[in-house]
Amino acid sequence: MINVVLGTQWGDEGKGKLVDYLAEKVDIIARFQGGANAGHTIVVNDIKYVFHLVPSGILYNNKTCVIGNGVVLDPISLVDEIKLLDTKNINIENRFFISERTHLIMPYHRLLDVVKEISRGSDKIGTTARGIGPSYGDKISRTGLVAGDLLDKEILTKKITKNILEKINTIKKIHNIDNTKLKEILSNFKYSDITMDTFYDPENGLDSNKIIEYFYSVGQKLKNNISSTMFLNNQLKENKSILAEGAQGTMLDINFGSYPFVTSSVTTIGNVMSGLGIAPTKLNQITGIVKAYTTRVGEGPFPSELNDETGELLRKQGDEFGATTGRPRRCGWLDLLIVKFACDINGINNIAITKLDVLSGFEKIKYCKSYEVNGEVVNQLPNNLKNCEPIYEEVDGWKEDITNITRYEDLPENAKKYVELIENILDVKIGIVSVGPKREQTILR
Ligand code: GDP
Ligand code: IMO
Ligand code: MG
Repeated sequence: MINVVLGTQWGDEGKGKLVDYLAEKVDIIARFQGGANAGHTIVVNDIKYVFHLVPSGILYNNKTCVIGNGVVLDPISLVDEIKLLDTKNINIENRFFISERTHLIMPYHRLLDVVKEISRGSDKIGTTARGIGPSYGDKISRTGLVAGDLLDKEILTKKITKNILEKINTIKKIHNIDNTKLKEILSNFKYSDITMDTFYDPENGLDSNKIIEYFYSVGQKLKNNISSTMFLNNQLKENKSILAEGAQGTMLDINFGSYPFVTSSVTTIGNVMSGLGIAPTKLNQITGIVKAYTTRVGEGPFPSELNDETGELLRKQGDEFGATTGRPRRCGWLDLLIVKFACDINGINNIAITKLDVLSGFEKIKYCKSYEVNGEVVNQLPNNLKNCEPIYEEVDGWKEDITNITRYEDLPENAKKYVELIENILDVKIGIVSVGPKREQTILR
């Protein structure tokens, strides 16, 4: 049996918190797409953890965690995260696996990510600079490295040498970046052990040998964790249950998001199958995470964005700053055209509303379920979001602090009305209401 958690908006809906909450009842938690662009926050026993690659079920010491073949894995980033877990006495031995087919993010992917953004100028996407686009690009171009390659020095040497030559050429000739600038960009990539300028070479830009040695040594560290892609399939045959942890959200999906202001992976339901190597016949609950308002990090259209003091207030009360890059998140009212679209595309059959507590104290709460586009009313999400003007409706707010409420019936009447109104518009059951960042601040309905 497979349960799924997906973001329904532009990411940061609170997926990490909900995955941690739902993980208690499953055997395995698996990431199926994205990479260290994700920032999933969990608060347990007053300790805050932010995971970028390691699945959000890792805090239960009896759960198995898997990085599926659909992920792009930055081994340096992973080593960092494992180290952090070590300091918190969270042991991952024998319960953390990486598919041998998972594509890798190499130092030149991170470089390219930054360099391409510089070249885009005012058309920049506002990526997380984690090398996501360039790594998925190499996967599709059939020039990528996979986790299994980390164990074979000969393949590693051949692929890295060839790729570095090509990428550095592109960076220098097509993007006009000289060695000084290149070193400066590299020195901004900091991990706890190393800054990436360790790999700098004054003559060639990047030092292939140093990269090969480093990645091979990481491979040796991870050799017991790199496993067959059939691992999950075999576990399903033994009746083990899986929780698939989505990263990003439907509006950042490469097919269905606000293209080109999207990430480079399929963030929607289809990738649960192709990113983990499992069949759709085992799918059970598909939980869509819906923030009680809307946020977005990076560039691109955002119809319900509030560039005023209400937006400021949402950012302040919701502590809306990126978990990966620290950037302030853009904020606005709940856009139900977007969430409805996400429900339809993904077949969502359960919803968790998060951050309802953030709306306490707002006199009126607005939401939209249609747009005005060139003088016409539109009820279904259009492809181009640029000239969409939300048509707002509003409900009365509530004043009470709801962060300690544990039973749905104890919520203020107006808070329940808001939840039920969303449920009616989306026509999907809202099974969970989240009223704070902590594991226990979760109301099961
Ligand atoms: P994710 O990327 O979807 O996992 O979400 P992030 O972790 O990037 O951002 C969600 C933020 O909201 C984190 O700081 C969480 O700790 C926090 N959070 C999650 N659920 C709630 C909630 O119900 N109320 C409040 N106040 N904060 C929450
Ligand atoms: P989680 O899993 C919010 C955004 C970036 C940028 C665009 C492309 O924490 O919800 P990329 O680095 O992927 O090429 O950036 O996507 N983005 C996210 N925004 N939450 C995320 O992940 C995101 N991952 C990428 O800000 O606009
Ligand atoms: Mg996040």
